[in-house]
Amino acid sequence: MKVLIFPTKAEAIEKAGDLITEKIRSNPTCTLGLATGGTMEPLYARLRAKGESLDCSRVTTFNLDEYVGIGPSHPQSYHAYMRLQLFDHLNFDPSNTHIPIGDAPDLEQEADRYERAVQDSGGIDLQLLGIGANGHIGFNEPCSSLGSRTRLKTLTSATRDANARFFKDHEVVPRYAITMGIKTILDAKEVVVLATGSKKAKACREMIEGAVSSYWPASALQLHPKVTALLDEEAAADLELREYLETVHPAGRDVKVV
Ligand code: F6R
Repeated sequence: MKVLIFPTKAEAIEKAGDLITEKIRSNPTCTLGLATGGTMEPLYARLRAKGESLDCSRVTTFNLDEYVGIGPSHPQSYHAYMRLQLFDHLNFDPSNTHIPIGDAPDLEQEADRYERAVQDSGGIDLQLLGIGANGHIGFNEPCSSLGSRTRLKTLTSATRDANARFFKDHEVVPRYAITMGIKTILDAKEVVVLATGSKKAKACREMIEGAVSSYWPASALQLHPKVTALLDEEAAADLELREYLETVHPAGRDVKVV
């Protein structure tokens, strides 16, 4: 795993923006895997600011997840989030942007359909990930199978508490989600994880230095050959090998030796 530690959150976000922009410019028909959540908001703001200089008309996107029981027009749906944060501001073709349907009549069928759609697209070229404080990626909560595919997951109370800030009332925070599985994520050709803030420090330590374990789902990324983790100082605070990691990959400079 290539770990880049930045002095500030803004610099980590700038690097994530550069990696996505470079991917789209070098391969205008690429397929991106996208994430939602608070961490991604400033990143999507950076991409929005590129306006017409970033041609997304032939880019295909697959979001990681969606809440169950919430339809695409619901203001707290990830469909609404993506429209607000990104899709409505750049020239994405709506027929090329994909997010699971959280109020589909048959949710298991929807999850299977989504998994097939990811595979039929030819696979994800670059998967963007955030990380939960409990180490989840997508909504693959602790103890998710490392071989999992897109499916229904029950959210932990920690995740529901963390996401309650996006809802009016804790009671209405969804209890279930459809999420790409860990294996679906590991199938991506390249992965970029963005983690900022002290709440992510423990999860980042487990992702980078911990044993590969379903208890910390992000640790599964150690099995992937091409992962770049972009951390700010606070998210990197618990890393024991921090000094070494900074020597190997000084942030902002690409070093070929690993
Ligand atoms: C959302 C997703 C989640 C978030 C994670 C961090 O699509 O996949 O794994 O990335 O919950 O969320 P924030 O950024 O709100 O802390």
